[in-house]
Amino acid sequence: MSLDKPAVKPHDRLASLLEEDMAQVNALIAKRMASEHAPRIPEVTAHLVDAGGKRLRPMLTLAAAKMCGYVGDDHIKLAATVEFIHTATLLHDDVVDESEKRRGRPTANLLWDNKSSVLVGDYLFARSFQLMVETGSLRVLDILSNAAATIAEGEVLQLSAAQDLRTTEAVYLQVVRGKTAALFSAATQVGGVIAGKDEAQIKALFDYGDALGIAFQIVDDLLDYWGSDATGKNVGDDFRERKLTMPVIKAVAKADPEERAFWARTIEKGRQSDGDLENAVALMNKHGTLEATRGEANDWIAKAKDALATLPDHPIRDLLDELADYVVARVN
Ligand code: IPE
Ligand code: IPE
Ligand code: MG
Ligand code: MG
Repeated sequence: MSLDKPAVKPHDRLASLLEEDMAQVNALIAKRMASEHAPRIPEVTAHLVDAGGKRLRPMLTLAAAKMCGYVGDDHIKLAATVEFIHTATLLHDDVVDESEKRRGRPTANLLWDNKSSVLVGDYLFARSFQLMVETGSLRVLDILSNAAATIAEGEVLQLSAAQDLRTTEAVYLQVVRGKTAALFSAATQVGGVIAGKDEAQIKALFDYGDALGIAFQIVDDLLDYWGSDATGKNVGDDFRERKLTMPVIKAVAKADPEERAFWARTIEKGRQSDGDLENAVALMNKHGTLEATRGEANDWIAKAKDALATLPDHPIRDLLDELADYVVARVN
C-alpha cells in the first residue's frame, strides 16, 4: 500500500472551477498575514502558507457558497478566515506534537522555535476573527468561534487520552470530530448561511462537512502507519507521540497478552526502540485493523454523501461528492 500511484484528484477539478475565487482568497491571506511591527510574523506564516497545502477547507466554503447561489464577496473573506484558523492550528499542533515536517518542509517550530509558532499562531487566530467580523453576520461569528473553541477542546481531549490504552473508539471519535471535523463542518455551513439558505440545507451542509472531516482525520491517522513521504509529513509521528488513534485502539482490542505487553511498553510507558514501529504495523496487519480503519473511513464517506444527496442538484454538488471519494482514495 503506498501513495506512489497518481491519485485521481477531484479536488483539482473543484480547484480549477473555483480558481478565480481561490486567487482572491490567497491574495487576501497574503495581505492579512502582514504585520507592521513584527516581521517574524509574515516570515513564519509565509513559510507555511507558501508551501501550499491542499486548501481543502477554504475550497469547501467557496464551493458551498457557490452551490447555494451566493452572490457577493463574503465567501472570499470566510474562506480566508477558515484557512487562517487552519494555519494557526497547524502551527500550534506541530509544537504540541513536536513534529519536524509539514507540507514537505521543516516545521516552523524546528526552523524558528516553539515560542514563535505559538505566538504567530495566536496572531493568525486573531486575524481570522477580524476577517469574520467584517462579514457583519453574527450567525457566521457564532459558527466559526464555536469551531475554534471545539478544535482546541479536541486537541486537549486528545492530550488527556494519549498514552491511555483504555481510550475507546467513542472518545477517539469525539477527538477527531473536535480537532478536525469542526472546521470542515463550519466551512461548509457558513457557505449556506451567507447564501441565506433554509435550516434544512444548512444542516445538510454541516452534516456533509462533519462526516467528511471525520473520514479525513481517520485516513490521516491511517496514513501515519500506512503512508509514505507523499503526505509531506513524517510517518510514525503518532506512534512516537503515543496517540490512541483508531488503528491502535483496534489493535489493542485484539491483542493477546504478549501483544498487550508490547502496547503497554511502547504506548503507555513510552519505552520505544528501533523496530517497534514496524512491529506495531505488523500487529495491525495481523489483526486487519488498518483495513478495518479504512472501512470506517468509508462508512463516514457514505454518510457525507447521503447528506449531500439531500441538497438540490448542482454541478458543484457532484464535485463535492467526488471530493468525498478522494479523501479515502488517498489510501485506496
Ligand atoms: C492537516 O490537514 C491537519 C489534519 C486535520 C490532518 P491537511 O491535510 O488538510 O493539511 P494541508 O493544509 O493540506 O497541509
Ligand atoms: C491535526 O491533527 C491538527 C488539527 C486538526 C488541529 P494531527 O496532529 O493529527 O495532524 P497532523 O498529522 O499533524 O497533520
Ligand atoms: Mg500533528
Ligand atoms: Mg496533533
